[in-house]
Amino acid sequence: MKAESKGSEELDRLLGQRWLSGLWRVGREERPLDPKTTVKPHLWKWADIYDSLVQARSRIDIRSGSVERRVIRLVNPGLKETELTSHTMSLAFQLIQPGEVAPAHRHTMAAIRFILQGKGAYTNVEGQKMVMEDGDLILTPQWTWHEHAHEGDQEMIWIDGLDVPFVQSLQVISFEPYKDKRLPAKSSSDAAPPYGMTRPVREPSAAAPPPLHYRWRDAYPGLKRLSEANPNPFEGAAMEYVNPLTGGSTLPTLSCWIQMLRPGMRTQIHRHTSTSIYHVFRGSGTTVINGEPLHWEKGDTFIVPLWHWHAHANRSAQDEAILFSMHDAPILKAFGLYREESRGDSPPGL
Ligand SMILES: [Fe+2]
Ligand SMILES: [Fe+2]
Repeated sequence: MKAESKGSEELDRLLGQRWLSGLWRVGREERPLDPKTTVKPHLWKWADIYDSLVQARSRIDIRSGSVERRVIRLVNPGLKETELTSHTMSLAFQLIQPGEVAPAHRHTMAAIRFILQGKGAYTNVEGQKMVMEDGDLILTPQWTWHEHAHEGDQEMIWIDGLDVPFVQSLQVISFEPYKDKRLPAKSSSDAAPPYGMTRPVREPSAAAPPPLHYRWRDAYPGLKRLSEANPNPFEGAAMEYVNPLTGGSTLPTLSCWIQMLRPGMRTQIHRHTSTSIYHVFRGSGTTVINGEPLHWEKGDTFIVPLWHWHAHANRSAQDEAILFSMHDAPILKAFGLYREESRGDSPPGL
């Protein structure tokens, strides 16, 4: 409620000249009952993403050195000016061709990669060389040296997910190119296995390496088993990629999930203060967000903004649907800002 009287306007002006401001100027709209976000629900179709990557393949030349990587970001229609996917996370698709190398560097943003297609590329994180296979999740924790290189003979595509907007909002973005052309890889005998599901037992004094690589071949059997047990009513069979050293989320700012909806499954409706970005790894289905259905199929990506009611359904009566997703929930939970509400039903249209 803004004070309108002449006296208070004069006072406001005077305070403004002194770099001060009266709290009476804060309107009701700035203190809503429900959290408000500028992020909009949106679905990006695989056909558009793939065609854009193919066009970039012929026009964006990595080898000349003028461009470092062939990456296409998903722009949220509510965030046109900043070209970000959400207010906390950004998601992009990267295409790399045989022989290409993305120069080594490190940054304060944490990154995840989820591998979609192709063979023969690897990511080197702090000397740990990880060969990528479809469905693998590979982590680049903040401020770790990393590079990608492709030694195979077919193009590869993967998802890059980062916490760029969050780190940007804290004004702590830092980016450092590596001093040499290539980041040396440790020999396989020096390198501790980086896989995320198990860990070697070490002497108490030895620092445990962080898990960096979660393989599809390890993740899928557990997901399948979980889907045959009692599903979570809001998520189906959902598994979070955890940090086994701490039991905590995938990365301090990002939580990644792999989730299966059994044929015909519909989940119940809920909402939460975290934002989720989903990529359809297999199958097809529908997600209703605040009453609007988004119909998705393999390769599509969609966003569920914070505090939007949503539920998912697998449209197929025969095939499982598998969703990979990235959530900013660890940030909200760390500061006591995570809230969740449910209605206990499935929305119409599912
Ligand atoms: Fe990077
Ligand atoms: Fe949810």
